[in-house]
Amino acid sequence: MLRSTFVFSALLLSALSPQQPAATPAAQSMPADAKTLVNPVKPTPDSQARVKKVYGYDCAMCHGANGNGKGDVVADMKLTLKDYTDPAALKDLSDGEIYYVIKNGKGQMPGEGDRAKPDDLWNMVILVRSFSKK
Ligand code: HEC
Repeated sequence: MLRSTFVFSALLLSALSPQQPAATPAAQSMPADAKTLVNPVKPTPDSQARVKKVYGYDCAMCHGANGNGKGDVVADMKLTLKDYTDPAALKDLSDGEIYYVIKNGKGQMPGEGDRAKPDDLWNMVILVRSFSKK
């Protein structure tokens, strides 16, 4: 009950403030089913190359080109980021939870929102996980 009140007020807040970037209130209320969503895409060399390019534009300045969390703006923004080259970094997050953060943002992270299609977001999840596999 408490939770649904919170979700409702977060939704209300975001509806009332259309100027807010996607990363704000709604982002804090991860839907309960996010954890159990199963990644529906199979990565191909093409789809991974495509999202790698997007990662370069939209993510690398914070998370680093290879996911190590040492992007160019980290010091200025005083960010503390995980090192995705370490397999432990994302082990407690499901694919659905990672998808949700990439789409909606979290804290100081802006989300991709509607800029990326669902398939590309799922491919981005695969890309982010792949940083610890090299
Ligand atoms: C402005 C810097 C910034 C940009 C750009 C950014 N992120 Fe983030 N990201 C963060 C921060 C800060 C967090 C931690 C948020 C928190 O827990 O409050 C985060 C969290 C995450 C998480 C959740 C796991 C974790 O590390 O806590 C994932 C996955 C992620 N980012 C992927 C991406 C991807 C993919 C992109 C590009 C589409 C991206 N981020 C763009 C700053 C950024």
